[in-house]
Amino acid sequence: MAKQINTHDTGTTSHILIDRLTQALSFYRGQLRASPRAIAYLKSRGLRGDIAARYGLGYAPAGFQALRDAFPDYNDRALEKTGLVAVSDGGRRYDRFRDRIMFPILDDAGSVIGFGGRVLEGDEPKYINSPETELFHKGSVLFGLSQATQAIASTSTVYVVEGFLDVISLAQHGLQNAVATLGTATSGQHVKRLLGLAQRVIFCFDGDDAGRRAAARALDVCLPQVTDAADVGFLFLPRDHDPDSYVRAKGGDAFCNLALKASTLEGFLLSSAMQGCQLKYAEGRARLVAMAAPRLQQINAPAMLCRILAAIAAPSELSVVELIDFCRLQKNLH
Ligand code: UTP
Ligand code: MN
Repeated sequence: MAKQINTHDTGTTSHILIDRLTQALSFYRGQLRASPRAIAYLKSRGLRGDIAARYGLGYAPAGFQALRDAFPDYNDRALEKTGLVAVSDGGRRYDRFRDRIMFPILDDAGSVIGFGGRVLEGDEPKYINSPETELFHKGSVLFGLSQATQAIASTSTVYVVEGFLDVISLAQHGLQNAVATLGTATSGQHVKRLLGLAQRVIFCFDGDDAGRRAAARALDVCLPQVTDAADVGFLFLPRDHDPDSYVRAKGGDAFCNLALKASTLEGFLLSSAMQGCQLKYAEGRARLVAMAAPRLQQINAPAMLCRILAAIAAPSELSVVELIDFCRLQKNLH
């Protein structure tokens, strides 16, 4: 009997999509070599050629159907499924990435599963990424992981940054153990993967208010997952710097030294809970307890919880037992 062919077999589809994405990758790389303007842009960002090659950087030419040169069958449905080709309401097919520097995003096996694209100048949005596809899931992908695996293993440390160029620039300055979440907030899935990769996970944030907010979100996502064995740090860069600009201005050693001074998860939790609490007043002490309790309720690492309880109880002028009671009560009321 003839074997039934299942056209929805994701194994087979993935293989086809990766094939198309790989072909696009080599097309974009060729286009970069042929574009003095794109090369000049990367040079203006301080990138060396060997690093651009290591990360497979490319250039998507301007024009709505430039990919026709790479794919004679531009109507191929698989191209749509990769996200490389989009379809307008009127049914017209066009390249999603046009006149952009291309950053291939790889899976753990090193296969390309999506792209990020940056404008060379002007024109918002600054970056666009592949849409969610069968292969590409923004909530779990870590850009640069495939290139960073060895360095993460040998240092037992992974730096988590926000941008493509942060990862690449750190690598060029000798720090090859950095990965990026792609402009999406750090997710539970990211944290799970990161804690499985290295003993020490250092989240790096820009030194502005947006960085503080991103850090607070990352803290909340980490709390239920951290164990007493994990070592999670929160690094805030000086104002007006991101990891790329910092390492370019000060060098890799300076970045490492800064990272040694990263806040611990406990330290960051305490300082954010204490923020704005005037502890000399009863109201301020009550506010501290109220701010800290929802986070204390999330912690599953017993030794850490004991230390944090003690550190919050003292300035609140409560005993640890009273603080635990408060947390239980607050949880039950919600
Ligand atoms: P930033 O705006 O901090 O940019 O976005 P950046 O990484 O410093 O970019 P450069 O140095 O100007 O090139 C951080 C990350 O957020 C995502 C990208 O992944 C970017 O690297 N992002 C940013 C988007 O997805 N879309 C945007 O429009 C902007
Ligand atoms: Mn930047």
